[in-house]
Amino acid sequence: MPSPLRIAVLASGRGSNFATLLAARDRGELSVEFVLVASDKADAGAVQLAQMAGIPTLVLDPRDYAERRDYDFALFERVAASKPDLLVLAGFMRIIDGDALKPWVGRMINIHPSLLPKYRGLHTHRRAIKAGDAEHGASVHYVTAELDGGPVIAQTVLRIKAGDNEKTLAERLLPLEHQLLLAVVTLITAGRLTLDQNSVTFDNALLHKPLRMQGGTLVR
Ligand code: GRF
Repeated sequence: MPSPLRIAVLASGRGSNFATLLAARDRGELSVEFVLVASDKADAGAVQLAQMAGIPTLVLDPRDYAERRDYDFALFERVAASKPDLLVLAGFMRIIDGDALKPWVGRMINIHPSLLPKYRGLHTHRRAIKAGDAEHGASVHYVTAELDGGPVIAQTVLRIKAGDNEKTLAERLLPLEHQLLLAVVTLITAGRLTLDQNSVTFDNALLHKPLRMQGGTLVR
């Protein structure tokens, strides 16, 4: 049996996306080893979850560094020391220096709560409602130097209902995000996804548009 994919998770918040991956591993449905959970916030739920699960953690406080770039290089040096095959940004709320992340391009994914390329950055639910969009969703993409701008691997879509507000929309989207992230990581563990130049390859064929979540699975 091949050895499990070594994953480092970067998270700033409650960690429900990480919790989903952890639960899948515990059920024996995801062949991964969590080698590190790193955070910029000492009180991040993701860090607490990792500690309870006996996974190594790292908290680096950006306030201890003069420049964002210094912080990012320090962080990625420590992350590299855990020898991950894949970095998963699961609610990591920082913009990362392009040079610091360069060695990880193709080995780092992010989950973002919008149908990219729409609504990069923050307040995505609010912006989708304000724009009068009929649909909203989440994307998992490879991370490149461009904020929320790397090649999109897969998306999940939901309809915006009349009367939806930022909170209700976020709540309905969250379980779909979890399902999406788990599905993408599962494909990566199976070696079915790669980044070639700036394009996503799925089962050795170029992906012309993101995979879509349908009935619990990802389809072309
Ligand atoms: C998710 O909505 C993710 O898309 C966004 O931040 C949130 C993280 O949630 N970038 P959690 O910390 O995984 O619960």
